[in-house]
Amino acid sequence: MSFDLILFGGTGDLAWRKIMPALFQAFRHGSLPANGRIVGVARDDLSDAQYRALIKSRFDSVELAKRPSEEEFSRFAQMLGYLRMDLSSPADYARLAERLRQRSADVVVMYLATAPGLFTTVCEQIAIAGLNGAQTRVVLEKPLGHDLASNRAINETVRSVLSEKQIFRIDHYLGKPSVQNLFALRFGNAFFEPLWRREHIANIQITISEELGVEKRGAFYDTTGALRDMVQNHALQLLCAVGMEPPINSHADAIRDEKLKVLRSLKPWTAETLSQHVIRGQYAAGSIDGEAVPAYRSEAGVNPESQTETFVALRTEIANWRWAGVPFYIRTGKRLADRDAHIEVNFRPTPHAIFQSPQSGNVGNRLVINLQPRDGLELHLLAQGADKRHGRATQYLEPVQLDLDFDKRFGAERVGAYERLLLDVIDGRLNLFVRSDEQEEAWRWVEPILDRWRHDTAGPRHYAAGTWGPSAASAMIARDGYCWSEEC
Ligand code: BG6
Repeated sequence: MSFDLILFGGTGDLAWRKIMPALFQAFRHGSLPANGRIVGVARDDLSDAQYRALIKSRFDSVELAKRPSEEEFSRFAQMLGYLRMDLSSPADYARLAERLRQRSADVVVMYLATAPGLFTTVCEQIAIAGLNGAQTRVVLEKPLGHDLASNRAINETVRSVLSEKQIFRIDHYLGKPSVQNLFALRFGNAFFEPLWRREHIANIQITISEELGVEKRGAFYDTTGALRDMVQNHALQLLCAVGMEPPINSHADAIRDEKLKVLRSLKPWTAETLSQHVIRGQYAAGSIDGEAVPAYRSEAGVNPESQTETFVALRTEIANWRWAGVPFYIRTGKRLADRDAHIEVNFRPTPHAIFQSPQSGNVGNRLVINLQPRDGLELHLLAQGADKRHGRATQYLEPVQLDLDFDKRFGAERVGAYERLLLDVIDGRLNLFVRSDEQEEAWRWVEPILDRWRHDTAGPRHYAAGTWGPSAASAMIARDGYCWSEEC
């Protein structure tokens, strides 16, 4: 099979941080079809050779194990080419068409790693240039728009020139092996399904915390914020994976139909829940791993009076028979105490306590699905401890933990998210991509939060970098009688 991959935004941050390293890994693993061309597209005036040299230099900042040797890079580089384009110029699309006509590949992937503001222009122009034939697949990076209306406008334009099965809306969290494992846990095993409901589960917590700040993306991030960057997509996709009904099969639409139902069942916001159940924060100066780090407002590209949130914690419910009344908490932020993504499923305690436990009262069991940095499962149970002083069993129950480490079991070098998703695009598999109706529903749900923040002059609460965010996030969950895992 032959493919052409046209990488719009070919000299940008995403291209060299994620896409090129993923393409190289697929090449190294022998999973990238050999008969492929990868053409970087950007405004810079570069020759093919200069582009290859640029990409090669970028690999120096990739972790050692994923860096190509000279020999590997020279073989990989044979696939790489470059085309200078002004994305608003029809003549430049004609030159692209010319380049593609040099051979007729089975699959043509147009990867839009550009600012979302350019998505509609590029899609319209590729159609005018006649490049939207059946062999074309378009990959759209998130965030797709900045609110419901802009998302719809993009989707309408894209769908007017391409069919839904040609459109790959990427959410790289869906490509993570740990998220695949969540689907496997729920739908490949019978063990938890009978317990996976309101009768047995007290609450579910989704945490995606990062130690990193906004890095070199200050200007982009300052007009985006954590709600659009992480909650509207990654966190809601995790919520769908944990809350959805079992799909009838593993086809893309069967999975996407079930995720859509979860998004449609999210409890609508009221003035009260918007004020009580959504906390936004912004990092102030602090320290991470003993190193002083600046405040968000001092980062390059950020407005010194910015009101943009770098942290969000919220509480919601899925209003259906399975989940009615069970709180789902989402928490995500930059410059937090640790890099950690996990989902915690807190079970209800036994209905009647005959033992005492070291914690106050009757504690429930806990299943922790670790997404990163470790990929694994922890099952927290209670067991009878031993009273060492008297050699007698105590009446106290002690917490014990069953620990499954998937990195150890399957090797930490499993196929990464971007590598997996890029190969899926080339193969035409849509399971791990987001459909337009899912995306619109997610925007519809976050929009009241954006509206409220627009009119709320109080702005985000400040938290010191290196902490777990504003204390209001702990107070919110404490009102329900629960705590975030690191605080319990
Ligand atoms: C991206 C966000 O989608 O996900 C970034 O735009 C964030 O702000 C990143 O840092 C986190 O991804 P990961 O895979 O490192 O958890």
